[in-house]
Amino acid sequence: MNFDKLIKEVDRDNLPTHVGIIMDGNGRWAKARGLPRIEGHKEGLKALENILEFNRYLMIPYLTVYAFSKENWSRDKEEVEFLMSMAVKVINDKLEEFKEKGVRFLHLGDKLGISDELVSMIDKLEKETSEGKLYTLCVAFNYGGRDEIVYAVKRILDDFASGKISRESISNDIISSYIYHPEVPDVDLIIRTSGEQRISNFMLWRAAYSEFYFTSVLWPDFKPYHFIEAIKDYQSRERRFGKVVKR
Ligand code: FPP
Repeated sequence: MNFDKLIKEVDRDNLPTHVGIIMDGNGRWAKARGLPRIEGHKEGLKALENILEFNRYLMIPYLTVYAFSKENWSRDKEEVEFLMSMAVKVINDKLEEFKEKGVRFLHLGDKLGISDELVSMIDKLEKETSEGKLYTLCVAFNYGGRDEIVYAVKRILDDFASGKISRESISNDIISSYIYHPEVPDVDLIIRTSGEQRISNFMLWRAAYSEFYFTSVLWPDFKPYHFIEAIKDYQSRERRFGKVVKR
């Protein structure tokens, strides 16, 4: 696929700053082929790699992908273990590549509950890619949107107790500064694959004014041209942020 040709289909001056992707449908992709669910995740990873490669040219400044939710722990042990080992492998494989290409990696989620080995690998990946200037890849892993708000509230209470902040100073902006990696902006566009039309506890705080794009394409089948379709759709919308737009 010719990336340059695809990119010409969108207005480069009106790209969303932050796109979130709920990569859904790996299990159904595998089931439709009579394969175990983990084969769907392997293929899903290839689809993700393809989108990340494409984004080196498209250059959405912030991309967040939902790789493992808090709720995903309730899946079969074998599937959970597979996803954990996949995360270890991906970090091992991508560290040098991200550094070389200038992709900055950030983890969004709860470190508690993830193995010590994986936490130290995540920390290392964040640290070693922190100078990356190309774009920021946020991976929501062991993530829950409500948990993120709880995390912010607890830290606000700590700072209140120590006198660092006052009750009166609490505002939307202050709360935004206590969530995971506050430097990551609100999400402009959320894409969900596989035909489901739910937010599933993804990016709740940052999604206040997000546009949504749903497609029936299963995640392993999601290609750069599907991504472009989503961006084109986004660019055709009028974002109002609650205001009346005069015509
Ligand atoms: C949802 O599909 C997908 C996931 C829970 C995992 C997504 C993971 C990847 C794309 C690979 C990259 C991940 C890591 C850990 C590095 P589903 O299994 O819910 O599909 P279904 O709804 O059809 O069952």
